[in-house]
Amino acid sequence: GDNVMYLAHRYDIPIEGACEASLACCTCHVYVHDDYSDRIQEATEEEEDMLDMAPFLKESSRLSCQIT
Ligand code: FES
Repeated sequence: GDNVMYLAHRYDIPIEGACEASLACCTCHVYVHDDYSDRIQEATEEEEDMLDMAPFLKESSRLSCQIT
């Protein structure tokens, strides 16, 4: 399926994606703007676990390949 990381790539926005959306890295880490946080699905526990390893983690942090 589609996700925000692939969408970004399509528009030449250089988000990394080392594991190709298989939830095995945190290189696709992004911050979700306040205006949109209520409009996307919440992170799964698997995403949260991987996200915990991301540098500069914030309340708004997500893995962009998991936002669909
Ligand atoms: Fe690896 Fe998103 S690309 S978790």
